[in-house]
Amino acid sequence: MIRTKVVRAPDLIARKMRGEKITMLTAYDANMARLFDRAGIDALLVGDSLGMVILGCEDTLEVGMADIIRHTRAVRRGAGRPLIVADLPFLSYQVSIEEAVRNAGRLVQKGGAMAVKLEGGALFAPVVERIVAAGIPVMGHLGLLPQSVHAQGGFKRQGVTPEARRQILSDAVALESAGVCGIVLECIPPDLAEEASAKLRVPTIGIGSGPHCDGQVLVSYDVLGLTDHPPSFAPRYANLDSAIVEAARAFSEDVKAGRARTERVVNG
Ligand code: KIV
Repeated sequence: MIRTKVVRAPDLIARKMRGEKITMLTAYDANMARLFDRAGIDALLVGDSLGMVILGCEDTLEVGMADIIRHTRAVRRGAGRPLIVADLPFLSYQVSIEEAVRNAGRLVQKGGAMAVKLEGGALFAPVVERIVAAGIPVMGHLGLLPQSVHAQGGFKRQGVTPEARRQILSDAVALESAGVCGIVLECIPPDLAEEASAKLRVPTIGIGSGPHCDGQVLVSYDVLGLTDHPPSFAPRYANLDSAIVEAARAFSEDVKAGRARTERVVNG
């Protein structure tokens, strides 16, 4: 069913209460956002994964506020109905609460974001509280934290030891108490994601964390078959890589053979 009502942050909790799964994809530009809106996706994440997916970086650490603002603005232009969540990039919220509130505000004011997302647990609860107090919905992010790639020893599954499991559960509760509207759970064991989802009133949005979360998010370029080395948990729903190579090759052959249509079609 294609919905027409704009999805807003409180709707996520309402969906969980109704037992409706939430769908979220990353989006980085207006065109793709328009197509995901047309497909009925509930929420679009302007993730700092854009550093890896769009800019070809090794990790997300180079991405800055200007990048997220520009891409959020583009996504907002393309999509009218989905909830648009923008990532607070590395060092935009870790230095001080004041900077965090100001940067969250810039994503809303200049980018048109309807919520922001930040990585980290109980230590960031005071930051979440202050951003929420400023009237900006916040989404949490636990488990594999790409902005902590060096501290976590690479892009590795998290929450594996009993202690790490307890930490993720208590972080999730702390974020909920601080007022988040949902929590992304990245690469944790499915039974831990299930336990967290049952414990929390706010929805969990899983990525590589099994089927029991209240919603699922994936990096859109992985789903569309545009990345060469997608993570093992990301299903390919299309093979746009080969479609693009074929189209570009056909164009190239037409040009070389002198067949390419180069004139503007009148009334066409
Ligand atoms: O930046 C991003 O795309 C993300 C998802 C992996 C959840 O944070």
